[in-house]
Amino acid sequence: MILVTGGTGLVGAHLLYHLLKNDEKIRAIYRSEETIEVVKKVFSYYTGDTSLINKIAWFKADITDVPSMIPAFVGIEKVYHCAAFISFNPKDYVVMRKVNIHGTAIIVNLSIDAKIKKLCFVGSIAAIGDSRNGELITEENEWNKDLDNSGYSITKFGAEMEVWRASQEDVEVVIVNPGVILGAGFWTTGSGKLFQQVYNRFKYYTEGITGFVGVKDVVTAMILLMNSNIKNERFILVSENKTYKELFFLIADTFGKKRPGIKIKPWQTTFFWRFSSIITRCTGQEPLLSKYAAKSAHEVSEYSSQKIRETINFKFEKIADVVKEVCHLYTK
Ligand SMILES: NC(=O)c1ccc[n+]([C@@H]2O[C@H](COP(=O)([O-])OP(=O)(O)OC[C@H]3O[C@@H](n4cnc5c(N)ncnc54)[C@H](OP(=O)(O)O)[C@@H]3O)[C@@H](O)[C@H]2O)c1
Repeated sequence: MILVTGGTGLVGAHLLYHLLKNDEKIRAIYRSEETIEVVKKVFSYYTGDTSLINKIAWFKADITDVPSMIPAFVGIEKVYHCAAFISFNPKDYVVMRKVNIHGTAIIVNLSIDAKIKKLCFVGSIAAIGDSRNGELITEENEWNKDLDNSGYSITKFGAEMEVWRASQEDVEVVIVNPGVILGAGFWTTGSGKLFQQVYNRFKYYTEGITGFVGVKDVVTAMILLMNSNIKNERFILVSENKTYKELFFLIADTFGKKRPGIKIKPWQTTFFWRFSSIITRCTGQEPLLSKYAAKSAHEVSEYSSQKIRETINFKFEKIADVVKEVCHLYTK
């Protein structure tokens, strides 16, 4: 039997559908009933028969709570660990450490105890180092703790270290490090919000560059790696490197909406996040823009996915095609 954490999130929900399609027996962790409804919605994008979801053995647990997680591992042979807390808000740092690092340590310890065969961990390009001399970033670029890293980046790196510990304790591991994941179903968080904003005529863009990948490619690569003999390796999953401007224009064109027309310069975002943090300190409200979200909007980081392309002959869907499908599902 397979255990999936984070099954009620973007990656996990799409992963559950693809695993069920392969007739796998699945136990999936959830925390509240209403999140299962979102998974049903994601299944409806693939099939008219959403009763497929009833084949999942849902298991209520919190990955940071050992007693709730121990019974989840009974009879488990493989684990897909997708659960994480994603935030660029400094106030979330402590909780992010708890969920991402401590939670992953618990998954690793229980995987070792249960002698599971293989663990797949969803890491991030945030846990990979910067470019050397302007070259494409590969799996070999080491994360640098001395840089001004975001809390998210620190905790995804810490989580990855826990997963490597499992590989030293006879658990085979594969780690995927996706770029920004584009996919349907979660419109108010992550990249789903980008689609929502552009649809609602968001006016601004920046010219930072990062790697993008479709969610279907992410889960397909995870399943292929788990079903292969490959072990103790990590793989960057990026279909294309693009500027945010290119992505926003692509989404706007696909929706048939006006393209964002105002270019935001780095000093403007710096001014805005500082202003926003003063408001947060005075009112306690969520910051409209955090320092690290502002920074990443202008950063230029280009990634190579040559390793996954060559190791399993993986072919990524073009971002224009991913955007086309996600825009279609947004308006469905
Ligand atoms: N989205 C991206 O662009 C992106 C890019 C690169 C890497 N990643 C990585 O991909 C993975 C999946 O991301 P996602 O986009 O699917 O995130 P998401 O949509 O925010 O989903 C997060 C999942 O983690 C679960 N979770 C959080 N805290 C938990 C806890 N204490 N116990 C049990 N479950 C908990 C959530 O459960 P609830 O539904 O109960 O909240 C949800 O199922 C993460 O590891 C993330 O770092 C994401």
